Amino acid sequence: MHEKEFNKIYSQIDLPFQETKQVFLKMIFKTLEREFDLQKNSKQIFIDLGSGNGQVIIYSAINYGIRSIGIEIDPILIKEAKMSIKSFKDKKKINKKALSKIKIIHGDFYKHNLKFYDFIYIYSLPTMQKYLKHVFQTAKNGVIIISHMYPLKNFNNYLEIKLMLEHKNKNQEIFTYFYRRI
Ligand SMILES: C[S@@+](CC[C@H](N)C(=O)[O-])C[C@H]1O[C@@H](n2cnc3c(N)ncnc32)[C@H](O)[C@@H]1O
Repeated sequence: MHEKEFNKIYSQIDLPFQETKQVFLKMIFKTLEREFDLQKNSKQIFIDLGSGNGQVIIYSAINYGIRSIGIEIDPILIKEAKMSIKSFKDKKKINKKALSKIKIIHGDFYKHNLKFYDFIYIYSLPTMQKYLKHVFQTAKNGVIIISHMYPLKNFNNYLEIKLMLEHKNKNQEIFTYFYRRI
């Protein structure tokens, strides 16, 4: 990658932190369950590329009881995520065993191998996604890649669009895109 492009990507890491809204998350996981064979308490593994404050992997572990991995580059957000997991551990009704299925990796998703995962979640700008080809190529055939807000463009050779989920939202059209690795 050219230095200019590299700087363009890394300048985006400084953008204000955005998270997937909980109401959207609920719909995304329901869709995975209904359409893509996500099974509660199974051996399936979920990863969030750029896991931020950890809310997506916390949701997946608590509600689906599957191994939920996050990779995040920003140490401050990792700390926040760990504090959040700890606060869930103190809540009475939460299944503690489910929380032990969460793992957060401090790292760069451009360097991560995806071969172990069944569901790969990403919420990042198209300018960043553009350089993920070598990463998505490491995913197993058949796995589901979920992109929130932005479609994954120019990956037609090995990602097949399966479903576009439109969220109920007042001011702006918001979609989540579901792909299968082919
Ligand atoms: C829009 S936020 C999404 C957070 C979370 N996935 C969610 O949906 O609520 C994108 C996250 O990706 C992280 N990120 C950006 N570039 C990254 C990289 N190269 N490797 C790992 N994480 C990265 C950012 O720090 C940020 O926390």
